[in-house]
Amino acid sequence: MSAPATVPVPVPVRCETTATPQPLKRGDACSVVIMGAGGDLAKRKLFPALFHLECDGLLHPDFALIGVARAAMTDDAFRQLVYQSARDADDPSPAGEIDEAKWARFAPRLSYVRGDFTAGGTYAALGERLGAIESARPRNDGRLFYLAVPPGIYRETIDHLSGSGIAPRVSQPSARPWARVVIEKPFGHDLESAKALNRAVGRAFAEHQVYRIDHYLGKETVQNLMVFRFANSIFEPVWNRHHIHHVQITAAETVGVEHRAGYYEEAGVVRDMFQNHLLQLLSLTAMEPPVAFQADAVRDEKTKVMRAIRPVPAAKMHDYSIRGQYGPGSIGGEGVPGYRQEPGVDPGSDTATWAALRLLVDNWRWQGVPFFLRSGKRMARRVTEIAIQFREPPQLMFPVAPVKTLRPNVIAIRVQPEEGISLSFDIKVPGIGVRTTAAQMDFRYAGAFGPATHSAYETLLLDCMTGDATLFTRSDAVEAAWEVVDPVTAAWRDKDPEHFPNYAAGSWGPEIADEFIAREGGSWRQP
Ligand code: BG6
Repeated sequence: MSAPATVPVPVPVRCETTATPQPLKRGDACSVVIMGAGGDLAKRKLFPALFHLECDGLLHPDFALIGVARAAMTDDAFRQLVYQSARDADDPSPAGEIDEAKWARFAPRLSYVRGDFTAGGTYAALGERLGAIESARPRNDGRLFYLAVPPGIYRETIDHLSGSGIAPRVSQPSARPWARVVIEKPFGHDLESAKALNRAVGRAFAEHQVYRIDHYLGKETVQNLMVFRFANSIFEPVWNRHHIHHVQITAAETVGVEHRAGYYEEAGVVRDMFQNHLLQLLSLTAMEPPVAFQADAVRDEKTKVMRAIRPVPAAKMHDYSIRGQYGPGSIGGEGVPGYRQEPGVDPGSDTATWAALRLLVDNWRWQGVPFFLRSGKRMARRVTEIAIQFREPPQLMFPVAPVKTLRPNVIAIRVQPEEGISLSFDIKVPGIGVRTTAAQMDFRYAGAFGPATHSAYETLLLDCMTGDATLFTRSDAVEAAWEVVDPVTAAWRDKDPEHFPNYAAGSWGPEIADEFIAREGGSWRQP
């Protein structure tokens, strides 16, 4: 009997949409204030997202956008900045022409206030501008303040917003006009600072007014994870320790530290990617079915997962975590510098740009199932995926090669790029005799529905304007996530890494990674 073939046979999936999707709810008649309107986030993500929402007819006719930043700028210059940002953005579709008729409808609703975020006068001027806009429009539902400012001034900005009265505390979620505040990551630097920030936020606002944003939760496949798990009945019975061997969550990037050395040197990969994005993916994968698709029901279940994660013991840190830093290498055939050679990075830096954690979720569903989380910069490919690897059959009756090559079943949820879901399973190779090979049933969003039409920020901004906090992180979940990662960053701080840099840019990470997962009988996927 010959050995099984090893190349997975692709099995395309046909997709039939069976229902007409419900029309989307349009945003309230509100003012969106972008604090930090001159920054990268505003230009690359927020302005294009808002203009796309306008193009899709999802902004209220009484919507207004106010940019606030330190630079001197007229309203017209600000409009020009937003126009260029919308034209140059390539998320989700390639940069291109602006629909001028739609722009003409959008532009008059844009204005700019110059000011320093730490000065009371800025908030007085902003209050006047908001008052003028609101008194001129027939309907006024609320104000949304987006903190796209450096994290070091979150607290001060919140104190000013609240103290000046322009963002009042509103006790009931249904009260009008509402006031909401969006806070970007990083939310704190560790558990203590996150608690202090939560206390400051809690003094100023009720929890329902606060939208802690994690843009991963706006990604299509991340939201689909809930639908995949809970709108189908065949997966849930096997979604547990009896059938699952381990879970791998990968967020690999090809980009390096870019121009963010100042921030990244302090943060490192665990604070930058694990505390938020990867733990969010883990909690959506592991959570129990919520009783309703409502903000608190979903967030309760996610928080329970974070709290059930076994604390990583300092004495056994190497069993639970490994770290890496990229050296020079090549990506897409082009040479790239190592982390220590990047502009603004200390040439002797010990900051980790790659890490893998093995986390255990101590509850009935997941006891004994390791969750391997891995993320790094300058890796071989840009890919984010969640792979559920099932147990092998208890007994194999088919003949296999001396070195067994049957593969376990894997459900892989691809978050990006090529969003989709695949299921791999073994089949018989047609012909005489029994030979097995792997097949992969592959569902691709783009194949079924065409290219993506909106970005994660569009989803999330619209949710803020309609008051749906399901995809935002509650104060208790932020703190629970810091509780998971703090022991790791503390242990790393106390012990210098010995072999940095330990992976070449363009590779899949340090060599020790293979042994780390092999201890549990696994091997890393190279999606
Ligand atoms: C951000 C991190 O939150 O997420 C960045 O600060 C990272 O370092 C980015 O590059 C990744 O986001 P995406 O959507 O490109 O996967």
